[in-house]
Amino acid sequence: MPKHFLMCRPEYFTVEYAINPWMHPERGADRDIAVRQWEGLKSAYEELGHRVSLIDPIDGLPDMVFAANGALVVGGRVYGAKFAFPQRGPEGPAYLRWFTERGYPAFDATHVNEGEGDFLTLDEVILAGTGFRTEVVAHQEAQEYLGRPVVSLTLVDPRFYHLDTALFPLDGRNVAYYPPAFSAGSQKVLRAMFPDAVLATAEDAEVLGLNAVSDGTNVIINAEASNLQLELKRRGYEVIPVDLSELRKAGGGPKCCTLEIRGEN
Ligand code: ARG
Repeated sequence: MPKHFLMCRPEYFTVEYAINPWMHPERGADRDIAVRQWEGLKSAYEELGHRVSLIDPIDGLPDMVFAANGALVVGGRVYGAKFAFPQRGPEGPAYLRWFTERGYPAFDATHVNEGEGDFLTLDEVILAGTGFRTEVVAHQEAQEYLGRPVVSLTLVDPRFYHLDTALFPLDGRNVAYYPPAFSAGSQKVLRAMFPDAVLATAEDAEVLGLNAVSDGTNVIINAEASNLQLELKRRGYEVIPVDLSELRKAGGGPKCCTLEIRGEN
């Protein structure tokens, strides 16, 4: 099943502030390399037959490339983002406008949440992260608006500040994750819900290997996450490595650059 993704070209990408431990403004980042790497990710999706729509980047919003944070779209309904840090604040309305202009029913969230950075949708439930960015009350608000059960999970390691840096859905029923990124109680919940999960190593997590995108057959994943790639191949997945090293300087990987637009089903 082809997917529909929303992406934002990193035309104004820089690392000029630090809102997560990956970001070092004094070291900067190379925008041309970032754009080239991002183009590689976009082509990888298109070669797999997925559809990519684009939102116009905005000058002065260097993190807007991380489209996953822009909203959560489930069943054709859009739960808007409300960013935790003022540096990214204007991205929320910009993404919301993209959807409302195209006729999507949308909800302007009242609580802090960073879209698919902290909400990952499976067939029966939505997994939701909290601890660094998204507030638990936003999990409840999203559940109410989308009418899907939302399971809250607590993140405890600041390097893995969004759920999508610590876990990704392999398909609608199973996930890969890095257990130490979660609180003890959340680890128990994950073990109970996903007895057959792929568990990532520290080495995989530290190159943002969990920030991957799976369509159920193919997994697009940071090239450096070698243990995880081997395990995914062993499980029968087609692994497509991408190099997003420049965007990682802002704390982002393939999933961060990708907002899935889920239609009405
Ligand atoms: N610099 C961005 C931030 O800290 C990176 C966002 C990465 N996005 C994600 N979905 N994990 O907000």
